[in-house]
Amino acid sequence: MRDFLVAGNWKMNGYAAGNTALVAGIAAGVPHSARVKVLLCPPFPYLASVVAQLQGSNVAVGAQTVSEHQSGAFTGEVAPAMLRDVGCEYVIVGHSERRALYGETSAAVAGKFKAALGAGLKPILCVGETLEEREAGSTESVVDEQLGAVIDTVGIAAFASAVVAYEPVWAIGTGKTASPEQAQEVHRHIRALLAGHDADIAESTQILYGGSMKGENAAGLLGMPDIDGGLIGGASLKAVDFLAIANAAAQG
Ligand code: PGA
Repeated sequence: MRDFLVAGNWKMNGYAAGNTALVAGIAAGVPHSARVKVLLCPPFPYLASVVAQLQGSNVAVGAQTVSEHQSGAFTGEVAPAMLRDVGCEYVIVGHSERRALYGETSAAVAGKFKAALGAGLKPILCVGETLEEREAGSTESVVDEQLGAVIDTVGIAAFASAVVAYEPVWAIGTGKTASPEQAQEVHRHIRALLAGHDADIAESTQILYGGSMKGENAAGLLGMPDIDGGLIGGASLKAVDFLAIANAAAQG
């Protein structure tokens, strides 16, 4: 049986003073369940301090993106080894905001995924369709292309150290959540796609749902057979809201 991963994507939110209280609140309330892992992904400048504050807790830290390069003349970029150096365990790659606002192609995302793995980070690969793509009936082909680009680059075995997040773009930050059935349908499709390459990897890979997940809808989503946790934006910025989701996972 797969464990749950409940990951908070703070995006470009938070300042030092408030972060300390948020992290303390979360650390104090994480469920004591061996089946639920909690992860926080703050902006780059706060990674080291959040890692320091979480020393001795079982809450992990990750970054929101990473360079595909290891070092060198790439002004403004952050290398995967630097993230490891400051104590990150995970990194989100290919978030739809990165794809849409910063022009990250599936090839670039695959490069980041590969570089992250090479440095010992666990990539969380985000995939998902826009509303227009869903309405055009192309949800599966969009997800296939986004996932396929990474599988072609790193090979299916790499998914033993990675996580997939299905995040329908129309549900992100909109308050519109995919229904448990809508999400499950795509999660099942993603797992089948992985299984087409390697059945054992498909069975063990965590597939998170992201898009307006909150305490009120978490239990329904997390109760689905192929939903193994959440990638949470807005509701990860308040300890009580985030913990409601982690607790739903612990009861799932
Ligand atoms: P949201 O964001 O929970 O605010 O919809 C999710 C995400 O973008 O990862």
